[in-house]
Order: sequence, then C-alpha cells, then structure tokens
Amino acid sequence: MAKHDVVDFARRNFIRIAGGAAALLAASPQAVLAASTGGEAPLKIGTIGSGRIGGTFGSLWVKTGHPVMFSSRHPEKLKDLVDGLGPLARAGTVEEAIAFADVVLLAVPYHAMPQVGKDYASALGRKALVIDATNPIPRRDGEIADWALKKGAGAASAELLPGVRIVRAFNAIGYARLPEIAEREGDPVGMPIAGDDANAIAPASKLVREIGFEPVVIGPLVMGKHLLPRQPLAGVRSPEEVRKIAATLN
Ligand SMILES: NC(=O)c1ccc[n+]([C@@H]2O[C@H](COP(=O)([O-])OP(=O)(O)OC[C@H]3O[C@@H](n4cnc5c(N)ncnc54)[C@H](OP(=O)(O)O)[C@@H]3O)[C@@H](O)[C@H]2O)c1
Repeated sequence: MAKHDVVDFARRNFIRIAGGAAALLAASPQAVLAASTGGEAPLKIGTIGSGRIGGTFGSLWVKTGHPVMFSSRHPEKLKDLVDGLGPLARAGTVEEAIAFADVVLLAVPYHAMPQVGKDYASALGRKALVIDATNPIPRRDGEIADWALKKGAGAASAELLPGVRIVRAFNAIGYARLPEIAEREGDPVGMPIAGDDANAIAPASKLVREIGFEPVVIGPLVMGKHLLPRQPLAGVRSPEEVRKIAATLN
C-alpha cells in the first residue's frame, strides 16, 4: 500500500466510524454487538492470556466498567487478580472466556498461537472483534516467530486464525507504562492499530480510547507487521507522531 493510501485508509475508517456505521453493521456479528451494547453500554471482554498484557488491559477495562473474564489454563491461579478487581471481573478457562465474550483479547506468547488457532479459531470467528496484542519474538517463541516475522505479524495471525476479525493493537508499548497512561490527564497517547474490518475497528477504537489512548488506524491488517517492539512505531508517542511515522511505512 502506498503512503498516501495508508493515510487515506485511516481517514476513510475514521469517517466510517465517526459517521456511525449503521449500514455497515447490518447482517454481521457486529450488528449483534451494536444492538446489545447500544454503543455506550459495556462490552463483555474475554482475555486469552492473563499475564502482564492480558492482566493489565483486562484490569483497565474493568475499571472503565466492562465485565471481563480473565482466562488461564489454570484459572484458579487468577483468584487474587479477580478478587482485587471486584464484581466485574471473573476467571475462567479459555473456552469459558470465549463463550462469555463479545470481544476477545489475545495476549499469549506467539508460540501458543498455532494451538489457539487450531482449538479456537472457529469460536473466535463468531466474535465481532478479536484484538491481537501478541508479538512474535524469536528468542522466546522459536521457529514460529521467524515464520511470522517473515510473513508479517498481521498476515501471520490471520493465517493462524482463519475467518477471525482481527485488529492488531497494544503490541508496541510495554505493559508497565499502561496504568500511568490510562490515569494521566492532558493529551492522549497515540495507539497505532491495524485491521481490515471497519466494524471491528470501531469497537477496538472505543476500547483503546476508554483507557486513555487515541486510536490511530495505520492501515489494513497486513500493516500490523509494523506493530512490534523496537520498530519505528514502538513506544509512547503523540497521535500526530504516530500518523507521521505510519505515513512513511509500507
Ligand atoms: N509484556 C509486554 O510489555 C508486552 C507488550 C506488548 C505485547 N506483548 C505481547 O503480548 C503477549 C503476552 O505477553 P505477556 O507479557 O502478557 O506474557 P505473560 O505475562 O507471560 O502471559 C502470557 C499468558 O499467556 C497464557 N498462555 C500461554 N500459553 C497459552 C496457551 N497455549 N493457551 C492459552 N493461554 C496461554 C498464560 O496463561 P496460563 O499459563 O495461565 O494458561 C499467560 O497468562 C506476547 O505475545 C507478548 O509478546 C507483551
């Protein structure tokens, strides 16, 4: 995609979202989501992975009023986390979190992605939005990370999770900065996101905005290859800086 196309893509998406995409919502799982939430009502969120990223984002969304089911292969280990967050938080298995959720956050090491795809792509494909915060890291994830980096992280996640409405987000900022950003006042931090489906980008943008960031759509899911640590878009940046950097990428 050419640079001006990236910017145009972002602009088109914001226009679609800002324009209230009622027509676009027809006959999709998003229509069910929109009808059940009315735009402002809480979204039921499930996390696959409840470690540093799943635990932190899930906690932030609980604090903004969303019910969250944190999942683990050992949900009993999440007792302290959910007890500390109050009645909107609960713990479950991965299956239970997917069944519970309108929106799913993927926050597992990339080496788990083939298994997550094999076991859950079908169920995840029935969700309006799956946020992919995962990163392929070769030293941690091995060969699958080499493959994903070569293919591009967005395209790789799409191949591992066929039929799933993926928006890549939250990939390029360390978890330790998140609570401080969510609580601070003043200008928001830009959060680059990438996805193909405007009806998935809309609720993703809402969830990004509610925890103190300004979403910046950098392009379709394939542009998610730029949403990685130690890449030009990584770190804490203003929305305008994110837009300027994104315009240099293809
Ligand atoms: N840490 C950061 O600052 C940061 C920033 C941006 C993106 N990321 C990316 O976000 C992802 C999560 O990172 P993290 O730092 O949150 O990792 P983490 O603290 O190690 O947590 C990983 C979670 O994944 C779960 N998990 C592992 N294998 C699984 C499987 N096969 N099925 C289901 N759940 C599985 C674990 O749950 P159980 O073992 O309890 O089942 C654990 O809760 C990674 O891809 C990472 O690169 C991290």
